Amino acid sequence: MDVTLKIARGAPPLSPSPWRFALYFYLKSRYTLLGIFVFEAAQAACTILLPYAIKEIIDAVTLANQTGSNVFAAAENALILFAVLNLGIVLFSRASGAMLVMTGPFLRAEIRKSLFSYLQHHSHRYFISHFAGSLASRIAEVSMSSMHALWTITFDFYPLIIKSVVALIVLFGASGELALVLTLWLGIYIYVSYLLARRCRVYAKDFAEARSLVTGKIVDSVTNVMNAKMFARRRYEEDYLTDYLNHEVDHALRTYWYMEKLRWFQFTAALVLMVAMVGYALKIWSDGNMTVGEFSMVAGLTILLIEAARGLSRSFLEFFEYLGNISDGVSIFVQSHEIIDKPDAPRLTVDRGVITFCDVCFIYKEGMQVFDHLNVTIEAKQQVGLVGFSGSGKSTFVNLILRLFEPHAGAILIDGQNILDVTQDSLRENISMIPQDPQLFHRSLMENIRYGRLDASDEEVIEAAKKAYAHEFILETEQRYASLVGERGVKLSGGQRQRIAIARAILKNSPILILDEATSSLDSVTEKKIQLGLENLMKGRTVVVVAHRLSTISHMDRILVFDQGRIIEDGSHEQLLRRKGHYAHLWNMQAGGFLPEKEES
Ligand SMILES: Nc1ncnc2c1ncn2[C@@H]1O[C@H](COP(=O)(O)OP(=O)(O)OP(=O)(O)O)[C@@H](O)[C@H]1O
Ligand SMILES: [Mg+2]
Repeated sequence: MDVTLKIARGAPPLSPSPWRFALYFYLKSRYTLLGIFVFEAAQAACTILLPYAIKEIIDAVTLANQTGSNVFAAAENALILFAVLNLGIVLFSRASGAMLVMTGPFLRAEIRKSLFSYLQHHSHRYFISHFAGSLASRIAEVSMSSMHALWTITFDFYPLIIKSVVALIVLFGASGELALVLTLWLGIYIYVSYLLARRCRVYAKDFAEARSLVTGKIVDSVTNVMNAKMFARRRYEEDYLTDYLNHEVDHALRTYWYMEKLRWFQFTAALVLMVAMVGYALKIWSDGNMTVGEFSMVAGLTILLIEAARGLSRSFLEFFEYLGNISDGVSIFVQSHEIIDKPDAPRLTVDRGVITFCDVCFIYKEGMQVFDHLNVTIEAKQQVGLVGFSGSGKSTFVNLILRLFEPHAGAILIDGQNILDVTQDSLRENISMIPQDPQLFHRSLMENIRYGRLDASDEEVIEAAKKAYAHEFILETEQRYASLVGERGVKLSGGQRQRIAIARAILKNSPILILDEATSSLDSVTEKKIQLGLENLMKGRTVVVVAHRLSTISHMDRILVFDQGRIIEDGSHEQLLRRKGHYAHLWNMQAGGFLPEKEES
């Protein structure tokens, strides 16, 4: 177990060991679970004592017949015992059922909530390296498996133990030899079931992997359905999937045939026990060392125990599978959080909005240095444009300000405070970021805009939408501000999504504003219109704007030209044009249009 797991404050203290992970949740419901265990034990004991009550009845009746006394009077106590046991089964099982209802849904919700909360503290890097769909389905899988593992213990393994112990005690009263036979059988049966299940575990795991591979392929095909349509490759996609389905079937067959073998073992073992016990009991009976009641009790106990032990291999197998699921999921979720607030980190206070990069070094991964001792200061309320070729580090620069990644050396200061020393929440509350491809929730437009400031009134939301030139197109949608926007906002055009994001930033009203290609999807006419709204928004704030369209930033106070992680030019539009350097070259080439993807010279 990774003892040095670093967990962000506010995240639940989950353990990376599957056992401890599950135990952490089980203990949260310890009292109801204890209740379930008590009632299950009582129910198991009542069930296995039934043959004993029958024995008492038979023996009482036999005796009454011999002595000629009243049968009912003689068997009265035994009959009462029989009735009480049956009543006990009803009451205890229902009491346990009620406690299950009172625990199960809450426990499952608790597991999901904790996993989700833990997940939310993971870094940006974590989320760009894991698939959203697979994370979501794993949360469901881990919570399901944690529950099923618990129920397998509670309703399969545990009652079998109770029943075996009670049966052995009762049997010991009738015949020590029979009790010994049963003990031997139980020992061998449980051990072999365990071994067989363990061997099958590999098959079951491969089968599960094959299943999820097929699911993954289907998801990929569905996501790329436009590709299949555009290239007329429906048939190809079906054949492609068939290969994976065949693979799944192979693994299914291997697992199911093995399970059939397991059943052969179970049924044969049951047969052997039945014959041995009854045969042996018959012998003891014929020797006169056993009553007819005791004989029937032995038969009854054996049948009941066989019933309880049937499927033990399967339970073991499923149990291993649940443990495997938990351990898979836990290994993905319960990792150290990469970016953690320092203990007692203060909040960031921004009164001027000066951003300083001091000797910042940053790499995404070994051998790929993006920034090497970058130094730059963005003054208070300065409006700065960033330009440069694709891949020159503009977005990385912005991501570092937002602390989505941390520099490996050097420091980034905002108003003199190192952003690594303050809380991430306070940092991000002070910065509004509008990305190139803003993502929206599948919630109403009203909710999406209000995300910028949760206590904004409807009027304020509409006001912000008007400033972002989003109001008009929103009125044209079917349900206006109540319209839903589809997964990630796919039912809006790129430019419409950007305008929603701008409205959101207007509401947020934070002292630092960052736009990374935020108006790139807008046509020139709409961009011009929004520019007015944006200029209003930019007034009195520190602003960083990344843009490929130079006309978007030509009016800014200052322009930084990036090239392979270095700032090669720094000055206003006029200054840079006079320098006749990189910027002037780009400006001339573009003539108000777009930057070329690669420099041609
Ligand atoms: N998450 C990441 N993991 C690894 N490398 C990355 C990651 N994000 C960016 N890079 C690399 O870092 C370098 C700088 O990328 P960045 O996104 O900052 O460029 P950019 O100037 O914003 O480009 P564009 O104009 O295309 O948006 C590129 O070489 C890119 O491949
Ligand atoms: Mg970028």
